[in-house]
Amino acid sequence: MRIEAETVVRIREIPGDAGGRKIWMAPLRGVTLAPFRRLLAERFGGVDLGSAEKMPARLFADVAPAACGALPTVPQVIGRDPAALRAAGRILRDMGHARMNLNCGCPWKFVARKGRGSGLPEDPDAFARMLEAGCEGMPGGFSVKIRLGYRAADTLAARADLLNGFPLECIVVHPRTGVQMYDGTVDLDAFAAVLPLLRAPVVYNGDIASPADAARILARFPSLSGLMLGRGLCANPALAAELRGAPPPPRSDIAAFARDLAAEYAATLCGPAPLMGRLKELWGYLHRSFEGGDDGLRRILRAASLPALEEAIAALAGEGAVR
Ligand SMILES: Cc1cc2nc3c(=O)[nH]c(=O)nc-3n(C[C@H](O)[C@H](O)[C@H](O)COP(=O)(O)O)c2cc1C
Repeated sequence: MRIEAETVVRIREIPGDAGGRKIWMAPLRGVTLAPFRRLLAERFGGVDLGSAEKMPARLFADVAPAACGALPTVPQVIGRDPAALRAAGRILRDMGHARMNLNCGCPWKFVARKGRGSGLPEDPDAFARMLEAGCEGMPGGFSVKIRLGYRAADTLAARADLLNGFPLECIVVHPRTGVQMYDGTVDLDAFAAVLPLLRAPVVYNGDIASPADAARILARFPSLSGLMLGRGLCANPALAAELRGAPPPPRSDIAAFARDLAAEYAATLCGPAPLMGRLKELWGYLHRSFEGGDDGLRRILRAASLPALEEAIAALAGEGAVR
């Protein structure tokens, strides 16, 4: 068992249209690290999520209360060993956490083929043992993040009775299959069919990039207990606040967020190469908030040195606002 990423965090109540539902920040490995979550929450009011490093100690450090700041963070784990899941629950409870999420959605072949991530629900016995261990390891605070299935979109529906036998805090559903990765579109008809079968509160996750996207989902699925925002929130860190009715911030606020985040990464990462990798990944999302984003991103990705990268970022972030 390894801590694969931290998920989510309850943001705040969504007022107005969202009617008291929770907004979660999705975990994006390598992107939604503690500094990203903390700064986003401070500047824009919102989410928090996780990272996926190889070293368990570093991963636990990423969900240490001091790293998380004011936002509650739900640590996420991935694996298929029930004893390890119970142990992870004990460690996280000792750290002060009351929630834990099991990644049952990771689509990568080398993960799923080993019966982990989106491969786990395909094996009902192994899945049942993990659900049992998770509920024991984090009583009252265990949740799963899951796709519709690995190859076909019918596994989640087939596991509804099994899931209903456990006191899950919630089920986060990303309505794609594992083999689909992040391609194509979300299958909202399959999601509509499975939603009434699930007893636990359901959080929807997938392709929400604007308040209008969120409104469409909530209008069609009013029983949802929350929304989880991934790439849309990484592209626009104010998206959660905008869903609650806040006006879009000036682009200079997003530029300042990125600058301060880069300074935090620079202070903790060793040498220019890891920092450049981290910033290129971040701007792979953030560029969408800026005018000329596609051209700016090409220049950012081409940068072969840290000064060239900083120059490319400054050129893009200093340009005119999209809104
Ligand atoms: C680069 C990247 C890394 C991700 N890492 C994780 C992870 O560690 N754990 C997880 O449950 N999901 C992970 N996901 C999936 C997202 O949490 C989310 O389910 C997915 O991006 C769909 O939501 P979105 O359309 O709002 O982005 C990752 C996605 C991306 C693109």
